[in-house]
Amino acid sequence: MLLAVSLATVSSLAPAVTVIPKPLDLTVGAGEFVFDPSTVIVAPEGLGAARHLKDLMHRAPGLKLSVVSESGSRHQVVFEKAAPSPTLGKEAYILHATPTRVTVKYSDPAGAFYAVQTIRQLLPSRIDSTNLADGVRWSIPSVTIRDKPRFGWRGMHLDVSRHFFDTDFIKEYIDWIAMMKMNVFHWHLVDDGGWRMEVKKYPKLTEIGAWRIDTGGKWPGGDWNYANIRFCMSPEDGPRYGGFYTQDEIKEIVRYAADRHIEVVPEIELPGHSLAVIAAYPELGCEGTPPGPRGKPGANAYCAGLDASYRFLEDVLTETLALFPSKFVHIGADELDKRLWQKCPRCKAKVAQIGAKDMDGLQSYMVRYFDKWLASHDRRLIGWDEILEGGLAEGATVMSWRGNAGGIEAAKQGKNTVMSPTTHCYFDYSYQNIPTEHVYAWDPVPKELTATQSKLVLGGQANVWTEYIATEERCEEMVFPRAYAMSEVLWSDPKGRDWNEFGPRLNSQLRRLNEMGVRYHLSTPDVEYDAIFLQGEARVVVKNANAPAGVLRYTTDGTLPTPDAPKYTGPIPVGKPKVLTFAFVWPDGVTGDVRRVEVLKAPAPQSPGSTPGLREEWFAEPYQKVATPLKTQPFYSGTAPDPNKIPLRREDEFLVRLTGKITIQKAGLHTFWLTSDDGSLLRIGGATVVDNDGAHAMATQRGRVLLPAGTYSLEIFWSELGGDQGLRIDHQPPGGKRDRISPKILSR
Ligand code: ACM
Ligand code: ZN
Repeated sequence: MLLAVSLATVSSLAPAVTVIPKPLDLTVGAGEFVFDPSTVIVAPEGLGAARHLKDLMHRAPGLKLSVVSESGSRHQVVFEKAAPSPTLGKEAYILHATPTRVTVKYSDPAGAFYAVQTIRQLLPSRIDSTNLADGVRWSIPSVTIRDKPRFGWRGMHLDVSRHFFDTDFIKEYIDWIAMMKMNVFHWHLVDDGGWRMEVKKYPKLTEIGAWRIDTGGKWPGGDWNYANIRFCMSPEDGPRYGGFYTQDEIKEIVRYAADRHIEVVPEIELPGHSLAVIAAYPELGCEGTPPGPRGKPGANAYCAGLDASYRFLEDVLTETLALFPSKFVHIGADELDKRLWQKCPRCKAKVAQIGAKDMDGLQSYMVRYFDKWLASHDRRLIGWDEILEGGLAEGATVMSWRGNAGGIEAAKQGKNTVMSPTTHCYFDYSYQNIPTEHVYAWDPVPKELTATQSKLVLGGQANVWTEYIATEERCEEMVFPRAYAMSEVLWSDPKGRDWNEFGPRLNSQLRRLNEMGVRYHLSTPDVEYDAIFLQGEARVVVKNANAPAGVLRYTTDGTLPTPDAPKYTGPIPVGKPKVLTFAFVWPDGVTGDVRRVEVLKAPAPQSPGSTPGLREEWFAEPYQKVATPLKTQPFYSGTAPDPNKIPLRREDEFLVRLTGKITIQKAGLHTFWLTSDDGSLLRIGGATVVDNDGAHAMATQRGRVLLPAGTYSLEIFWSELGGDQGLRIDHQPPGGKRDRISPKILSR
């Protein structure tokens, strides 16, 4: 105990070094180096890192530092190139800061660049302000840092096909990648949702393939639905959604990324995921006709029995190689729907001609064809793990996405792999599915591999598929804070990795995102109960109080927690009725999702009603919110023996109220679910237990309530505002299973 206390004291005196990804080796010394107008940057001519440091010092601090190749200044930042060595290899750096001098040693320019990213994170968070920041002392602590990455492939992917993101956003995305010392931008340029790269030889790819008919809905381009994709053939087709990058824009992006030591790996999908191509050039599909609305299964593939498909792809890849100097070119090859191939005489003839067994063999043939083609152009093929099916091409690298199996198989065959399993790397999945902590716990090297095979794991990558990410803000929230966890997984030594130690560092980085105006996901407090009926005392417990990002605060008067609200430090005893409102809060007042706990006095004992079932009332007015007080008389009133089986008494625009009593036999935690289209609400003893209110498609909400045994009033609302409709009420008693609520416990 004593030891723990004294250690805590020491670390609280040392300046907090919150660099992410965590450096390999770090020692903090005495004093600090302060950037001021007298600071001089000394660097070999043309070193990009020196220019980036100068720009950094200009943006928020407003300092105009000069970069020179020699200086007698007594206050300088010196970049020194050294010969490569085991401690100073590719991308590595040594940063030594004292009160008068900062020295950066590196053997390749990427190392120097990463040292600047570290300096940036050692500076106050205002360094990332997009405006001039006055009155800040621009200091970094005296430190010695030796640092190098664990993996050579530290990737972030972005799908710009399902939803389009403009070049400004792409540059911002590249800035994030660089800030986290990642080095691959996998640009998913083409897919069923649209073709995004200008190809001079095939202008229809972007004249037609970049624009789909906007189907409306709440998102730009219309709610994503593969079956509804139709491309605009003419301006009369109505409002359109899409966009593409000109070759000049692509060259600028590639240059911008290279200046930040990021390789842009383009993905040109084949043979599937190519609906946009077949819309523009229907002659390349097995059927030779444009894929109509609700295109046939498999209509999004090139015909592999057609020479023209290979010539077309060679032409497209020729222009791709001219734009992208990357060693790797991604050819996709995932999720090929082979149903049209199976019916196509040309594809069947091709299978026979190449002596393949089946359509897997044909897929493999096509991948091998482009593996050789790329190799003959001095490039390497990478594809999703489906490229293993029917036999892996000679020079191929496998990007393992359907779990680790593809990567393990590739390594066992002596081939390189990049790990990107859906279990940890799919940042389009919800935070419930893939929490930041889960990403942080990931090891890209599968345990099944031997030490030699492990060396074939080039690294890992996070993927951002955008079917359901239509805006930049949404993209930011899906990326952050998970990307910080990923960056550390891919850069840092896994020894001693500790989520609790990572949390404060992450908080510090998120403050920098605040400065940049970049959004991120704040955790939702995981409260054990939504409502508590008191019998004596109870305790309110929040299970994820230590989630990084913000401080968990609460109020007891129903208001939203502010930065001044009490901090949650442990279970809160409650002995009196009140409403506790929890949220993660930043000092500047930004809050995440709110969770409320209603604490009520257990009502006076009641007896069950004499009639089984609930009172059922129908109102003919639309209610955007079912919680609005009712204004009119019901047009129907009766008894519902089972609230899960009420007949529809009106098609559209109604509100149903079910009232009566619920008898709880077993005290403890009772969970209720409401699934409805549109809104619904469930109240017990006057407390809102499940809130599924508002206009929405079929959706489920859960509520948990701590109930003593007894009989309580029950109120359920359901509203329908047009379109589909439905209501389902589920209940799970303590120790029981979830099921539709039992009519046996209901009465009126
Ligand atoms: C993929 O997610 N279809 C690679
Ligand atoms: Zn075919």
